[in-house]
Amino acid sequence: MTFATVRRRTLAINRRIRMARIIAKALESSRHPILAQVVPTRRCNLSCTYCNEFDKVSPPVPKPQMLSRIDRLAMLGTAMIDLSGGEPLLHPDLDEIIGRIRHHGIFASLLTNGYLLTAERIRRLNRAGLDRLQISVDNVIPDEVSHKSLKVLDQKLQSLAEHAEFDVNINTVLGSGVRHPSDALVIARRALELGFGTSVGLIHDGSGTLMPLDAGQRAVHAKVSSLGRGFYSHAHDAEFQRNLIDGVSNSWQCRAGSRYLYVCEDGLVHWCSQQRGYPGIPLDQYGAADLEREYASTKSCAPFCTVSCVHRVALIDGLREKPLDVVDQLCAAQRARNLRPPRSVELLRWMFVTGPRRDVFRRIAMRTLRVG
Ligand SMILES: C[S@@+](CC[C@H](N)C(=O)[O-])C[C@H]1O[C@@H](n2cnc3c(N)ncnc32)[C@H](O)[C@@H]1O
Ligand code: SF4
Ligand code: SF4
Repeated sequence: MTFATVRRRTLAINRRIRMARIIAKALESSRHPILAQVVPTRRCNLSCTYCNEFDKVSPPVPKPQMLSRIDRLAMLGTAMIDLSGGEPLLHPDLDEIIGRIRHHGIFASLLTNGYLLTAERIRRLNRAGLDRLQISVDNVIPDEVSHKSLKVLDQKLQSLAEHAEFDVNINTVLGSGVRHPSDALVIARRALELGFGTSVGLIHDGSGTLMPLDAGQRAVHAKVSSLGRGFYSHAHDAEFQRNLIDGVSNSWQCRAGSRYLYVCEDGLVHWCSQQRGYPGIPLDQYGAADLEREYASTKSCAPFCTVSCVHRVALIDGLREKPLDVVDQLCAAQRARNLRPPRSVELLRWMFVTGPRRDVFRRIAMRTLRVG
């Protein structure tokens, strides 16, 4: 085994441990944001027709402001920060921003269209301490909807497979109007072939709710969502998305503004990218009272919302508040599709939720993970 392979594996194990700590801390307390998505620049070098999150003119947020936003998020106890946009690789000080996130012990992710990635840029992201990169790929050949195609990006993906020391996930969206929706399957298979994670998003309109899928897109979704994913993301995302595709609402409490924050280029906190303006409070004035208010606030857009990262964050609070209901719901979703929940889930359910020694197991887990 080469030194580079040992280093990559060690870093990957370290990330798993940090992630376990993040989840344990979020299960222990509801008083801090789990995930913040921050926009370092609204400008983008592409113009995907389904996207309402970019422009062609905005300057990058000046470095001092970006760093003080990261510091403020750290002060609020934020566990993970996604750098989004626009296209975040257009920001000239991105490495320093990532370094500042890691300096605070926060998990650092980058969402990118990948156009500006080179071997050297990937090595710089390694050095900055990036934990995870999500690259969006929408089709096999570019079309009028999206230029984020395998044809253009496959070289970048190979470069990531060769040089990246961070986790890589390929995200593709369904319902965007690309010429061949079945491309999503080719893209997901390519992700697995390269050793990357894969996820599929449903296109939302300007309020965050679902744009209807046709029969072909539904069939593709069923196939893609069954590929190479862990129990948690599979049972949860697939169930949430399937309900939406079937026109069935999801019953959940959106914790945006509290456990999830969207910080725009002007430094204002919004519920999410699709509900900008609510609450629209400057991050440097955002505090415990805001987090508490938004934890409990009702969002009328929730039943048909497709913003999947906010769903996942909400699942952690669901697990803390009603562990048995949530675990049983996930297992039932698996069984409904003739899939057996993994034995480890049964074991964890017994250890931490139903077993007579659950308090002891919880204490040991928290101490081992150095939470509390
Ligand atoms: C807004 S982009 C910003 C980061 C980067 N420019 C990129 O494309 O990955 C972040 C993610 O949002 C997705 N996205 C954009 N518009 C969307 C929409 N209307 N519905 C669902 N996902 C969308 C993109 O495909 C991408 O995966
Ligand atoms: S590359 Fe990303 S930010 Fe740019 S238009 Fe496409 S989805 Fe939007
Ligand atoms: S339910 Fe939450 S995440 Fe979804 S659109 Fe509304 S505010 Fe955004």
